[in-house]
Amino acid sequence: MTTTTTGTRTVERVVHSVSTLEGAGFAVRRPFPTESLAIVDPFLLLDHLGPTTYGPGEAVGAPDHPHRGFETVTYVLEGAVEHKDSTGGGGIIGHGDVQWMTAGGGIVHSEMPTDEIMRDGGTVHGFQLWVNLPRRDKMTQPRYQGIRLDQIPTGQSEDGKAKVKVIAGESMGVSAVVETRTPIMYLHFTLQPGARVEQSVPGNYNAFAYVINGDVLAGDQGQQFHEGDAAVFAGDGDRVVWSVADAAPAPADVLLIAGVPLNEPVVHYGPFVMNTQEEIYQAIKDYHAGRIWTDSQIGLYEA
Ligand code: FE2
Repeated sequence: MTTTTTGTRTVERVVHSVSTLEGAGFAVRRPFPTESLAIVDPFLLLDHLGPTTYGPGEAVGAPDHPHRGFETVTYVLEGAVEHKDSTGGGGIIGHGDVQWMTAGGGIVHSEMPTDEIMRDGGTVHGFQLWVNLPRRDKMTQPRYQGIRLDQIPTGQSEDGKAKVKVIAGESMGVSAVVETRTPIMYLHFTLQPGARVEQSVPGNYNAFAYVINGDVLAGDQGQQFHEGDAAVFAGDGDRVVWSVADAAPAPADVLLIAGVPLNEPVVHYGPFVMNTQEEIYQAIKDYHAGRIWTDSQIGLYEA
């Protein structure tokens, strides 16, 4: 990885999402982990949930399940998700809200459509990103940072054609409110036809963009990306650029996600992501013995 090069990063590869089912059977599009892209260190997974419109009684979610060793970042674009967990925490992640959950040493939680959506039906659309924790933080106390739509800092370009929600990191002179364990950038851009964005991304960050909707031109070459595509940038510069053609029929939404790679061993088994196989066996043992539930309840993990 080059850390001193300046200039516009090239697009190293394009990844088309794979459609799959998660939880109790909700549809997601997943650029990684897939056969063609295992990881964008420190990011382990990106799931694009829906948009799915459920009829009355049809909605499904992810009932009680554990996590250890990483963070889950839930960003709801439409609909609402209700969460409950083993620390006694819970609440509703509503339209436009973000929940940054540090699972650390472990937590058991459920992520379900709200009672209202379960009963009456409705549309659910959002993202879940898994952010790996460095070895030193894997067994830290679980923590939530809930950021409501109106608390997410926003910025816009001088011509007003590009808007950004700053979930993590900095963009257009605006800084995020969320605290991350390692340097991370999570930006949601809404681009009108004719918009052009130049975003600085430090040379030591891994970076990718994901197109939520619309048609986007990325890099100096103006490579085309469409809904569900991820563009992984090479580490050959300190900024990324993309734009939407003047003649585009609709605006586009793009996520830019970037962070400093951990460069540590990743041993991944379902909802546990640790550094060694031993630690995975321990996580499975702890879960089956009910310790992830009780230790997270009574605060037994490292502070
Ligand atoms: Fe979860």
